Amino acid sequence: MLANPPIVNIESLKDTFEICDKVVFSAGHNQLPRVQLTFEGHSLELYLHGAHITSYMQAGEEVLWLSESSHFNAEKAIRGGIPLCWPWFGPHESRNDRPQHGFARASQFRVVNTESNALYTGIILRLDADQAPYEEWQGKATLEVEIRLSDTLWMELRTINHSESPLLASQAIHSYFQVEDSRKIAIPELTGLKYHDKVNDNQVTEQKDPILLNGEVDRVYLNTPRRVTLHDQISDRCIAIDTWGNAHFVVWNPGESNAKAMGDFDDDGYEHMVCIEPANAQVSPVSINPGETHRIGQLLTHLAIEQ
Ligand code: BG6
Repeated sequence: MLANPPIVNIESLKDTFEICDKVVFSAGHNQLPRVQLTFEGHSLELYLHGAHITSYMQAGEEVLWLSESSHFNAEKAIRGGIPLCWPWFGPHESRNDRPQHGFARASQFRVVNTESNALYTGIILRLDADQAPYEEWQGKATLEVEIRLSDTLWMELRTINHSESPLLASQAIHSYFQVEDSRKIAIPELTGLKYHDKVNDNQVTEQKDPILLNGEVDRVYLNTPRRVTLHDQISDRCIAIDTWGNAHFVVWNPGESNAKAMGDFDDDGYEHMVCIEPANAQVSPVSINPGETHRIGQLLTHLAIEQ
């Protein structure tokens, strides 16, 4: 699919970027290049395909949901973990021959740096402008992704406009969180916000009561706070999602019938996941001036529950 897919040789990645016990390269599912980062008791696994995080173990506990039926295939996005939607979010606004959620999640990134220090273990990956598979994006923008693992997960997407005119981009950090029972979660900061309801003709609706995932939920929340928290009421786990550079949070759960209809989504997966996605959805894409960089990011922190 890529115009210029980088040739990846795991041995040469190891020679250049491996850091003993902290940053380790290997062949993952279907031989796709994979990186494991560790920091003290925490670990993270990601694929160069999509710069896609597939596992984040915080003190031995998995934070993310990954579909057991996921394709690990160079042409498709991995289902679960943290896909990156870029340089557009959702269906392409004018061309139905373009893939949903952009081309980054099915493109292979290259590693530009790895780092291990007293504060974090990190990696920087890049999708170069000349890798864009579509002529209208060729040479226009680079996506740089930096990930830092400590007792938190910090990640930032930087879009650099190489063209001579302002660039419009929409995007999302599409995290799939693992929960015991999706009907028994709370995201209190959403109560009182307005959202575009994608399952109801994008109607602007107010979240009057606490959100309840009962059936398909697909919402673009507006005027969002910088922090939302995900409370898993069964496991008593609470994750804080602090963000920057996003106008929206998207919340998605496909519900039973959509989950069953998707070939790469476990039939009962919808019961154990919720997507909470800092985003700039197409209702208000970001405009980036020539030569400038736009940053969107999130910090995931495991909060202790007050008894
Ligand atoms: C969400 C969108 O972000 O991603 C949904 O709001 C979409 O509309 C979902 O269905 C999954 O998209 P995909 O392309 O990964 O199946």
